[in-house]
Amino acid sequence: MTRLSRRTLLATAAGAAAVAAGPFVRRSHAQSDPIKIGLVLPYTGVYAVLGESITQAMELVFARENWTVAGRKIEMIKEDDEMKPPVGIRKTEKLIDSDKVDILTGPVHSGILMGMRDKVHSSKTILIVSNAGADAISRERCSRWIFRTSFSNWQPCQPMGGWVAQNVSKEVFQIAPNYQAGKDMMAAFRETFLPAGGKIVAEDYPKLGETDYAPYLTKIRQSGAKAVFAFFSGSDAVNFVKQYDQFGLKQSVKLTGAGFLVEPDVLPAQGASALGVISGHFYTPLLDNPVNQRFVKEFRDTFGGKMPDGFACQGYDTAEVIVRALKAVGGNTQDKVKLVEVIEKMEFDSPRGRFRFDPKTHNVIQPYIYIREVKEVAGGLNNVAIDRVANVADPGTGCTLPA
Ligand code: BEZ
Repeated sequence: MTRLSRRTLLATAAGAAAVAAGPFVRRSHAQSDPIKIGLVLPYTGVYAVLGESITQAMELVFARENWTVAGRKIEMIKEDDEMKPPVGIRKTEKLIDSDKVDILTGPVHSGILMGMRDKVHSSKTILIVSNAGADAISRERCSRWIFRTSFSNWQPCQPMGGWVAQNVSKEVFQIAPNYQAGKDMMAAFRETFLPAGGKIVAEDYPKLGETDYAPYLTKIRQSGAKAVFAFFSGSDAVNFVKQYDQFGLKQSVKLTGAGFLVEPDVLPAQGASALGVISGHFYTPLLDNPVNQRFVKEFRDTFGGKMPDGFACQGYDTAEVIVRALKAVGGNTQDKVKLVEVIEKMEFDSPRGRFRFDPKTHNVIQPYIYIREVKEVAGGLNNVAIDRVANVADPGTGCTLPA
């Protein structure tokens, strides 16, 4: 047996202690670092108001927690994706590779989400999608690291097809911006509209960010359609709904659509032009559950009377998922597999109702899709629920988790 000198023994013991303590020292250091939440959202462009609502509601939840969860400070790193997929992808890479964020959230634009997906998946970064509805992310492009608190594009539109055929008209013109979200939503509507005896008279896809809808409104008038099913959001929704009214179509061709068309982020600018528009969405600030009532009050008190919209509800739920997950793992963000397990099983009362993820897809199951009509109510124009469909889960075709 080799005899160790006292000096060697001490040196060896010190080395062993350093080895033993090393990971502990490193880990406890990491454990006391702020938790970095990276946001890839539009703060400029057509969807800037959506990015703002999501961010404000997240801030509201983190402020409730005094910006500290499980002993760690919460730090939000906001990046403007400028609504451009290459910019969104670059910002995602920066947040993952340079900032080393613990959790990523955003984006708003389906095309940006599709562009981010592989980087997120290969780097095993947990992404909580707070808006972009690209159906593929709950289907063939799903990932064990990606959750969605917002919706798949299919969810607010599929229930609308049958409803419009039965209650509005069987002759519909479809119109949406020419990119993935527009195509997904129009296809989802047709899934139930056509079997209910509906006929798509014509369809058209203006560019995202179009400002002059006159040529499209002319086509709608000439088509003889009795109703329109539209998806627009942000400043596109303001322009489309106002010009639809100014063009004189509002009285003769019923305007229906995905709820984003008439959310509270755009209703004040649309004014009376939005009255009577019928749309499908998982949320309206008029829901009378206690969590929503508190959320609406706190949001309005904090943000100068602004009415929260569905995007704010998504931001609230995203932050709520993050806070609850961090508490459940005691602030340890190193063990990603554990974090995923905790998030998968999470359930809580959200302003939209009982919140839970579909374990098959990691996409939220909507407690309800409300069919809403814009009416004048106390506090101004708002979306009043006139019907609803329960437990709307994306079909998740082609998603095999854990992928
Ligand atoms: C999307 O691109 O997925 C999207 C954008 C705005 C509202 C809804 C969906």
